[in-house]
Amino acid sequence: MSGKFSGSQVEEIKSRCDLVEIVGERISLEKRGENYVGLCPFHQEKTPSFSVSPEKQLYYCFGCGASGDIFSFVMQTENISFTEAKSLLARRAGVVLPDKTGGFSHRADKQKAMQYSLNRMAMEFYQHILLEKPAGRKALQYLENRGIERSSLESFGVGFALPGWDTLLKEAVRRGHEPRDLVEAGLVVAKKTGGFYDRFRNRIIFPIFDYRERVIGFGGRSLEEDERNPKYLNSPGTQLFNKRRVLYGIEKAMKEIRREKKAVVVEGYTDVILTHQEGITNTVASLGTALTQMQAHLLRAQAREVVIAYDADSAGEAATERGLDILKRSGCTVKVVSLPSGADPDSFIRSNGRDAFEKLMDAALPLTAYRLNKIKEKYDLNRMEDRLSYVQEAMPVLVSINNRLEKEEYIKEMAEELDVSEGALRTEIKKFTQKQRKEERKGNNLGKIEQTMYIRPNEIDPAEKVILSLLFVDEGVFNRVVERRKDISFSNNMEKIFAACSKIYEMGSELKIDRLRDYLSDESLYGLVASIGFDNPWEGFPDEEIMRVVDDCIHRLKIKKMAEDRTLIEKKIKKMELAGGQGETIRLLLAEWENIKQAEQELCGEGKREG
Ligand code: CTP
Ligand code: MN
Repeated sequence: MSGKFSGSQVEEIKSRCDLVEIVGERISLEKRGENYVGLCPFHQEKTPSFSVSPEKQLYYCFGCGASGDIFSFVMQTENISFTEAKSLLARRAGVVLPDKTGGFSHRADKQKAMQYSLNRMAMEFYQHILLEKPAGRKALQYLENRGIERSSLESFGVGFALPGWDTLLKEAVRRGHEPRDLVEAGLVVAKKTGGFYDRFRNRIIFPIFDYRERVIGFGGRSLEEDERNPKYLNSPGTQLFNKRRVLYGIEKAMKEIRREKKAVVVEGYTDVILTHQEGITNTVASLGTALTQMQAHLLRAQAREVVIAYDADSAGEAATERGLDILKRSGCTVKVVSLPSGADPDSFIRSNGRDAFEKLMDAALPLTAYRLNKIKEKYDLNRMEDRLSYVQEAMPVLVSINNRLEKEEYIKEMAEELDVSEGALRTEIKKFTQKQRKEERKGNNLGKIEQTMYIRPNEIDPAEKVILSLLFVDEGVFNRVVERRKDISFSNNMEKIFAACSKIYEMGSELKIDRLRDYLSDESLYGLVASIGFDNPWEGFPDEEIMRVVDDCIHRLKIKKMAEDRTLIEKKIKKMELAGGQGETIRLLLAEWENIKQAEQELCGEGKREG
């Protein structure tokens, strides 16, 4: 019961997540043909053999055979069970609705596709107003005054939303779109009293792309700031847009981030546009918030070093502090740029130029130094109490340094600064660590983590693999195999998979790869099934040919079964002979052996004639 129910949830989650995006948060992917390829996260390799199919939402490594879908990927990389992966991905996907109508997943897919195209339509509409229409001239002038060149406006797709209440709405309806769909996409708001109005009015529009360059949402900057008009208004959370996942500019910065293995993270839209315009093209923005785990993963996958260049105001500093921890935990080397008070990268570059900004970046402080500095600034080190407070507050920072040499350096420096002995400082650190450990032991009781092993495709017979692939292509294949079942024996793995397929057929449902997971008695087989779905050579193969191939495979399996039966008899006979066994039984076994042998010869002849 719960299995079947969860099946629809699984599909729902799948339709809302993108495997390319999820894998892309872990490893660098590059588009090659229809697929994306990268270095396999499951084995050591120098040339990429890990493929992800955006269309099929499956991955397959041609090197080690690892394969699967979003669930198995998350299970394997995060080392968690299916249930955990499901809830993790459900959270990521947003609301999960139980499937009542049966066709939800399909509908969700369609909705997503529609939202992408509505977003693109809106982007082009806003862009046209800004760049071509007299009504956009004021906004264009404003952007020009801020030093943003036309080419930057064009490449970032910047536009302008007119002050009217329904400019976009009217245009979209004129083109045949439904207001409801515009609401779903976050472009239009439904009034409580009925009717609709444009979300973005009298605002400069910054489209937000995912790294496959699809428009997922918008940010709008007001031209007239007041209490009733927040400076920025962003798209609401939609199926495509989740502010916590966005890195603004990633579609343009990815290449350079990968090349340099270094990313610069700023706060705002204009910071990204200005830095890119000045040729610093590894810049992305976290859009005003502290970096989230998701964004950190995404950066970590592509960069070894992340430079934070947040606004030098209190909000920026708080965001920096929170983001730093997350980044460090994800394994990046983190550096922090200190901008003059009140400045952000955009304003700094405008008044001081690119070179000055580069200099600031070169002088960026490593995480520890930045943190110690921040603490130090609060105290007057000439005063005894202040020095003590400084040491206490600095403890967690010192303790968190993993590198021994680095730690030594900081201790030395601090001892000098405070004019105390290094020994005294070390004693304090020890005390602090002990206290910390005690607390950890109290609060920390993590359960053991389950590791799921995946079965590789070569662990079933090639003929079985072909049959399995064909099952997904043609309904008739299933019946054919059932008819001939008694003649052949499947390997253990194939037996389990076939049993799951049978259940799906019995229910009268269409055999689909993601559906199989719910019916597999052995979760570890899913990878194997997925690998078949990844690259099914029989898709689009002519029907008549398919049955011929099935028969041929059954034929091969039949021969195999006979050989196995025969070997079994041979073993029995040997055993009996050794034990000096009864002649009659041996005679019967020999007769059976003879029969099989003959049947085998006939079968092989048949095979030859046919082939
Ligand atoms: N932001 C937001 N909502 C707000 C304020 C800010 O989403 N009400 C986000 C925006 O992405 C913005 C970023 O936080 O780009 C940084 O905010 P801020 O420094 O205030 O804006 P700037 O990008 O510097 O914009 P401008 O230079 O036009 O003032
Ligand atoms: Mn700013």
